[in-house]
Amino acid sequence: MIFPYKNKFIKTLCQSIAILGLILYIVYIFWHHPFYNSSFTIFTTKIAQPAKNRNYSPTNITHVIFGLSGTTNSWNTKKHYIESWWCPNKTRGLLFLDRPPPSPWPATSPPYRVSQDTSRYQMYNKHKLKHAIRMARVVEEIFNAVNNSVRWYVMTDDDTIIFVDNLVEVLGKYDHREYWYIGMNSESIASNVLFSFGMAFGGAGYALSFPLAKALAMNLDVCIKRYPSLYGSDHILQSCIADLGVSLTLERGLHQVINLGI
Ligand SMILES: *[C@@H]1O[C@H](CO)[C@@H](O)[C@H](O)[C@H]1NC(C)=O
Ligand SMILES: *[C@@H]1O[C@H](CO)[C@@H](O)[C@H](O)[C@H]1NC(C)=O
Ligand SMILES: *[C@@H]1O[C@H](CO)[C@@H](O)[C@H](O)[C@H]1NC(C)=O
Repeated sequence: MIFPYKNKFIKTLCQSIAILGLILYIVYIFWHHPFYNSSFTIFTTKIAQPAKNRNYSPTNITHVIFGLSGTTNSWNTKKHYIESWWCPNKTRGLLFLDRPPPSPWPATSPPYRVSQDTSRYQMYNKHKLKHAIRMARVVEEIFNAVNNSVRWYVMTDDDTIIFVDNLVEVLGKYDHREYWYIGMNSESIASNVLFSFGMAFGGAGYALSFPLAKALAMNLDVCIKRYPSLYGSDHILQSCIADLGVSLTLERGLHQVINLGI
């Protein structure tokens, strides 16, 4: 017998304590596990507020810096996606590669940088995605490289297609002097459940306003160490951004079509 007590009161008490313990345990798991923790921003997703009383010039393409992540091995096959929208001398940004590419570098591709060494994060690297930490660090590296008259940093993959004029128009709705994290969920519901509904999926690209990118760049080291086991860079960054108190603003024009391999 589970409850060898004659006394009904004690039996009920024991059952209540057991049930309460189970409930507290479940609450604890959902509240403290970093994976679920970062997902909780779902309840606070910001509603876009068009910038009012602006006393600054309209946002244009020169205010936007693109931070692209790629690999040297795959650039030759991926570059066509990027070159379909990249306009040399008009779009500004840098492509971060894992190692130096063979020269000459095509003039039609974005200028590249080789990502800094990430071996010092070895003990924090339990990510399933191979380049997770290197890709997360693109925010810091691009901020350190280009930060003059920048309003927005747009982070993309090496196979993201951007309609540049549309993107600039959308970003222009927001006051870049505030903290904004603008992106979209995945179009695969399973991915949103697995990762987070509060996360901007990197495949579509997402935008960080200047002050947010700056705060991220300054805190990235601590952040990478705090989340050693999330799947990839966009989830690491979302968790860091949530810790800074900023939640995702959804823009439905950004589409991530997921490869169901995840
Ligand atoms: C963008 O706006 C700035 C003023 O903030 C201006 O100096 C620059 O020439 C503009 N660039 C383009 C391409 O319109
Ligand atoms: C970009 O500008 C430089 C000089 O400012 C020029 O030499 C180069 O041809 C331009 N590139 C393109 C693709 O227009
Ligand atoms: C801003 O960019 C310049 C290079 O243009 C760099 O020297 C400087 O360190 C950067 N500032 C920060 C705070 O990273």
